[in-house]
Amino acid sequence: MKVLSTIAEITAYTAELKKAGKTIGLVPTMGALHEGHLTLMRAARAANDVVIASVFVNPIQFGPNEDYDKYPRMFEADCAKLESVNVDAVFHPDPAEMYPQGFCTYVNVDGDFTRKLCGASRPGHFRGVATVVTRLMNLSRADRAYFGQKDAQQVCVIKRFVNDLNIPVEVVMVPINREDSGLARSSRNAYLSDTEKQQALCLSRSLRKAEAAFAGGEKNVAALLKIVRDELAAEPAADVEYVELYDFPTLEPIETVEKESLMAMAVRIGKTRLIDNIIIG
Ligand code: PAJ
Repeated sequence: MKVLSTIAEITAYTAELKKAGKTIGLVPTMGALHEGHLTLMRAARAANDVVIASVFVNPIQFGPNEDYDKYPRMFEADCAKLESVNVDAVFHPDPAEMYPQGFCTYVNVDGDFTRKLCGASRPGHFRGVATVVTRLMNLSRADRAYFGQKDAQQVCVIKRFVNDLNIPVEVVMVPINREDSGLARSSRNAYLSDTEKQQALCLSRSLRKAEAAFAGGEKNVAALLKIVRDELAAEPAADVEYVELYDFPTLEPIETVEKESLMAMAVRIGKTRLIDNIIIG
């Protein structure tokens, strides 16, 4: 696997690939890779001649009181995992390479839907994501880019700017990969103690209850939200930031579930903020 550290290196690499007519799949990550990330790599592997992953903890998508400094970094272990699923190249730049002195251009997706859900408590987060993902798409010259449903609002934001800016990349969303317990895999699960991991199961459990109720014919948004909120309230360790049910992918408010809709939550277990969601309808 090629390790590309500079913009010059990835530019030269992808120029050759394009000249040779290869299709390119891009999988952006912040590293601390787990099985969830690897499902994205496998999806990219199956549909493209060449797979480029990126491992970059993007400083501009973290708020001042967030976990940028303590975010897990383990590049060697990440490379071994990427090689195990036959990724061709990994782009792993320094922050100074991506944000040199003078950098001042940002991609700001400005719809109301960016200020809901995670956007409400993380101002500037999606601007940071949209800016880095735009650049990774440009640098990789990807035909397809892969993102997890785990970060469903991120997918909504990315689909929006790719469409609005006419970026010639197909955005592919991959379902959430979970541990056997139901816990959605996340690099931030590394912050959880064993007890907290048990407590964190209330997220997926409450979503499964709503899914079952929907399958049983309940379409009323308020009723579905109540089922989830009641289940979360039964776990004393759960500090709920939001639970919402919106149209997907517009994130417009709805009263009944008539088409694809996103039930999403952010819940703090101890000091760790966890997110989870399901798409129903
Ligand atoms: P990161 O949190 O490392 O996630 C990288 C990709 O893996 C995202 O698209 C995320 O949705 C996906 N992913 C994470 N856990 C998953 C799971 N359990 N199942 C399926 N997919 C999962 O998201 C980011 O990084 C950053 O915001 C990034 C897009 C790289 C921009 O910096």
